[in-house]
Amino acid sequence: MLSEDTNLSRRDFFKELGMVGGGGMMLSAFPWLQSCSADDKAKIVKEKVRIGFIGTGSRGQFHLNNLKSNPIADVVALCDNYPPHLKDASAIFPKAKRYVDYRRLLEDKDIQAVMIATPLNEHAHMTIESLQAGKHVFCEKSMAMTPQDCLNMYNTFKQSGKVLFIGQQRLYDPKYVRVMEMIHNGLIGTICGIRAYWFRNNDWRRPVPSPELERKINWRLYKATSCGLMTELATHQLQVGNWALKMIPETVTGMGDIVFWKDGREVYDNVSLIYRYSNGVKMTYESIISNKFYGLEEEILGNKGTVEPEKGRYYFEDVKPAPGIMQLINQIEHKVFDNVSFAGPSWVPETASINKGEMIMDHMTAHDGASSVGASDDGTVELETAFCEAAITGKPAKNLVEEAYYSSVLGLLGLQAMEENRIVTFPAEYKIPYLNFA
Ligand SMILES: NC(=O)c1ccc[n+]([C@@H]2O[C@H](COP(=O)([O-])OP(=O)(O)OC[C@H]3O[C@@H](n4cnc5c(N)ncnc54)[C@H](O)[C@@H]3O)[C@@H](O)[C@H]2O)c1
Repeated sequence: MLSEDTNLSRRDFFKELGMVGGGGMMLSAFPWLQSCSADDKAKIVKEKVRIGFIGTGSRGQFHLNNLKSNPIADVVALCDNYPPHLKDASAIFPKAKRYVDYRRLLEDKDIQAVMIATPLNEHAHMTIESLQAGKHVFCEKSMAMTPQDCLNMYNTFKQSGKVLFIGQQRLYDPKYVRVMEMIHNGLIGTICGIRAYWFRNNDWRRPVPSPELERKINWRLYKATSCGLMTELATHQLQVGNWALKMIPETVTGMGDIVFWKDGREVYDNVSLIYRYSNGVKMTYESIISNKFYGLEEEILGNKGTVEPEKGRYYFEDVKPAPGIMQLINQIEHKVFDNVSFAGPSWVPETASINKGEMIMDHMTAHDGASSVGASDDGTVELETAFCEAAITGKPAKNLVEEAYYSSVLGLLGLQAMEENRIVTFPAEYKIPYLNFA
């Protein structure tokens, strides 16, 4: 039985997330933000989901710290095969049972849902075994190391009747949700191009207490455990392009190299790709981790305007001319009346009407591109809550796995194009129904 206080704080919590009182965000436009029936709402307000958490490293502890203050989550078990990380997690949930072998955790009938934040090579088999053990599953992105494993995860999910969530938090990030609705309502006209990039300046290495732990701790840098930038960063952004266009690219080509961090790593530190959609629109993708000046962004270019969701801004192509007095000041400042220019410009109208754009929404946190965990308001808390709700009601979020599936597979096809130095066409056998927000 929950106390009155707990009920109050639960209500505040849901209100803050826009999930009670009919105040939910744009539910009709985004299938995964389903509105709940009255029965579902009653269940969510009363129950907590009992979670077993597998992989309690950096991202795992980020989730655990969030879940600590989530009134519908109850973390009852923790699993990690690296003792220092299991110890850190136990400090967050001291009463949770501890496991070293995830298969023992899956045997625990008390656990309703499993959250997985292990390295990429562990995602597919852990997710499949968890679904087969009758658990609802949240698995961090990307889905898997190969398109076939992504498909196996998807098929197991479909057969299981359980809930599957993948850690693509932009789908729940309020600024993305809002701007996508604006784009789909014609804000920037016809989308003609997308330029996505993620730049950082750090080697991605973590300190290793002893040499035999190198491949375990720095799993991101080695091909047996990671597909590098394409699965660690690109999948988040490729998904934004598909979301904006409501389509999947047909072909991809690109080049990848180790340009700067020549330290024994096996994955590229520098990638450049072009994804082409069937209507001729191209999404370019770049990631470099030895220069951070441009940060990260997905620039969505329409014939009437441009959107930069990470900066939280949009810009119309036609900017209102500056008032006459501003133009006059500008002319005087630039001394256009003093002399007649023969070669250079004598007229600088653009400076009087710099296009600073409009904010997508008030009160938002923009990402600085430096953190490996994400900005504090990046949709992760909403995603975790949506998973807990879905696990309580037993109702999967429509189209969410499909979105994650396509961004995971597209990241892997991009890697294949770079490694084989050719144009790769999306293989028909890896196409799954894409609901197109219908
Ligand atoms: N959605 C996001 O924005 C986001 C951000 C960061 C990381 N991630 C994802 O989270 C996942 C984990 O990344 P991380 O940075 O936390 O890595 P990490 O190395 O810090 O943590 C992984 C943990 O998994 C444990 N582990 C590995 N194999 C295991 C096994 N067989 N059984 C039990 N535990 C095992 C490791 O010991 C480690 O503690 C990755 O898939 C990564 O892509 C997502």
